Amino acid sequence: MSVSIVVGSQWGDEGKGKIVDLLSSEVDIVARYQGGANAGHTIEVGDKKFVFHLIPSGILHENVTCVIGNGVVIEPAALLEEINMLKENGINIDGRLFISRNAHLIMPYHKLLDSINEQGKKKIGTTGRGIGPSYIDKYARKGIRIADLLNKDSLKEKIRTNLEEKNNLLKKVYDHTGLEVNAIINECLNFDNEIDQYVTDTSAYLNDAINKGKSVLLEGAQGALLDVDHGTYPYVTSSNPTSGGACTGTGIPPTKITDVIGIVKAYTTRVGLGPFPTELFDETGKKLGEVGAEFGATTGRKRRCGWFDAFLVKYSTTINGINKAVITKLDVLDSFDEIKVCVGYEINGKTLKYFPTSVEKLSEAKPIYETLSGWKTNISGIRNYEELPNATKEYLTFISKQCGFDINYVSVGPKRSQTIVI
Ligand code: GDP
Ligand code: IMO
Ligand code: MG
Repeated sequence: MSVSIVVGSQWGDEGKGKIVDLLSSEVDIVARYQGGANAGHTIEVGDKKFVFHLIPSGILHENVTCVIGNGVVIEPAALLEEINMLKENGINIDGRLFISRNAHLIMPYHKLLDSINEQGKKKIGTTGRGIGPSYIDKYARKGIRIADLLNKDSLKEKIRTNLEEKNNLLKKVYDHTGLEVNAIINECLNFDNEIDQYVTDTSAYLNDAINKGKSVLLEGAQGALLDVDHGTYPYVTSSNPTSGGACTGTGIPPTKITDVIGIVKAYTTRVGLGPFPTELFDETGKKLGEVGAEFGATTGRKRRCGWFDAFLVKYSTTINGINKAVITKLDVLDSFDEIKVCVGYEINGKTLKYFPTSVEKLSEAKPIYETLSGWKTNISGIRNYEELPNATKEYLTFISKQCGFDINYVSVGPKRSQTIVI
């Protein structure tokens, strides 16, 4: 029995989808615990490429059951699109997908408010998927949950009350005509018909399975530095991608967790706004983006790129309790003459002891770099740690020491097979 949490250790897009798919062959259940369709998790199998936004990345394994936990916010159209995509690809999900009754819905007014907020002065650079406004309603105790779909009369009443309030806001503050209630109600009723068979008490299901000795993988979306509590607030998402969120987002108690697996990209990327101390604006940054094909899997936006920030990942290791690490996209560094790693920050000549999450401090922080030799070898075909060039091994040893974790896997390409077990 194992209950492992897979967390993104940086600003998202570390390659969680590839690794969750890979590790799924060894588990019975994969569950998503937070976020929504802001996530874009890519899996390449053969010549097929799948991008999952809501469905856990274990779904391609026919013996794996997938759970969308209570901590996830679900946009009906996005989920139905994914379910249809799976069906079109001949992947049977009947009896293999469970959706928590307690998960909240993302309604059209949430997406609209997200896009209106992004047009204002306080931009975050969101994915526009309605994530923030949906979590606002959840915490304001006004949200509409999957369970609400079961009682049609009270569902209609809740939608009406919510929309009345939103339309007031839209009309009075944003000079918008507002949204029409019947279209929203009909969308929810149709959604209920489509997903009824998948809805259950997922916390009970997961805890029963664990008690029977089943192995579970809890798949995080986004990354630690996008965590609403521990990230670079306000330039964060509205949930807890860090490992603690896996317990609240599924109903599995902390005493059942056996491992926290950190997914760590061999360099750093970020999409959206907010400070990024090791960001490169030069040819090197451009090259990282080109070789790494760094475009958002959800929005197609260009990802900002920079050197590996070990000071940041060490912080992430601490707050997540990462005890196993997977280094991804190491092949992207193949052609660099030298590779820099940030080992600390300096502000006004003073070295910082702890990673600062304050945006003001991070914007002033100057990275302290150590320079390592590049390996100038194509490593994407290597499957055995011993066969890696010495400079590659030195890079891995260096970041493992700096970040304070052991490396269990190294990913050298997007395919399942392009993985080295250490
Ligand atoms: P996620 O959000 O953490 O699941 O990551 P994304 O799917 O958004 O972005 C990771 C991208 O890198 C995807 O296009 C993957 O197919 C790709 N990828 C994953 N691992 C590797 C790797 O080791 N090397 C290379 N070159 N690409 C990788
Ligand atoms: P995966 O799971 C990278 C970023 C957005 C924005 C901020 C808030 O694929 O790693 P939101 O729409 O969540 O309100 O946007 O968070 N963001 C991501 N960046 N990968 C993601 O997911 C992200 N999900 C949200 O770009 O800066
Ligand atoms: Mg992604």
